[in-house]
Amino acid sequence: MRPSAQMHPHGRGDNVGATMTSYIDVVFAPIDRDLALERVAGGNETEVYRSDDGRYVAKLKGELGGSLDAALAQAREMRAAADGFAACLGPSYAIPSHYVLARENSGRVQVLVLQPFLCDARALSALDYRALTPHERRHLGAHLLTIIRRAERLYRTTGSMPDLYGRTSSSHAERRRNRSLRNLPRRLWSFLVERTLLRSHNLMLTNDPARPVALVDYDFVRRGRLYKRVYFLVRRLLFYRDRVAIRLALGA
Ligand SMILES: Nc1ncnc2c1ncn2[C@@H]1O[C@H](COP(=O)(O)OP(=O)(O)O)[C@@H](O)[C@H]1O
Ligand SMILES: [Mg+2]
Repeated sequence: MRPSAQMHPHGRGDNVGATMTSYIDVVFAPIDRDLALERVAGGNETEVYRSDDGRYVAKLKGELGGSLDAALAQAREMRAAADGFAACLGPSYAIPSHYVLARENSGRVQVLVLQPFLCDARALSALDYRALTPHERRHLGAHLLTIIRRAERLYRTTGSMPDLYGRTSSSHAERRRNRSLRNLPRRLWSFLVERTLLRSHNLMLTNDPARPVALVDYDFVRRGRLYKRVYFLVRRLLFYRDRVAIRLALGA
């Protein structure tokens, strides 16, 4: 089950008159009194909502959750992975994630992930690099090279690393379509060729000098050992391509 949608006029600040879509579900009870949150984005697996005060995002994965025990085990696993990724990247590139168990309307217990909402940040995928000054470009390039180096280091010590790339989707239906076999060639092309780190959805450029680039996605790969080996091998090879792309495009 996913929260049910309700369109209504936006009543806040400079957006008065615009229409927003609120999603209503008792799963939001731990952070929201009227149980209605606005959706701000959707990733590869996750729907992202923001709290009414605009300070936090609440993330839900339709495919997770279940019994209380199952959700608790999932939350612990997710928290351990996120803590490891955040520690490896350090405070300059990581944001905190908090895990809350909450029951949905459907009765399933879900893992609600809470993070600070980076409202002024832009995903690298949405960035107009030409609008940056050469100095800003060089700085961003240096940060991206550091992030790659830290992810590599984590892989060497733990056999895992965060997904620095990511994808977006506008709905569950689109997510399902993307995963169909018919879309496999397009997915592979996008994975291997189109999506360099410079077009990342998971890394966001912020206005905060203390955390200039932030990783927002702390999901780990939920697959068997062999899959992970191959997957991370390809990822690490793609890092070579990305280092070249970063040096060429950003002069880092
Ligand atoms: N803390 C956040 N602040 C602002 N935007 C966010 C935040 N977390 C996620 N987003 C936006 O939502 C998108 C999807 O979130 P993400 O956690 O990457 O989901 P998925 O695991 O499905 O890829 C991101 O690409 C980003 O654009
Ligand atoms: Mg993502």
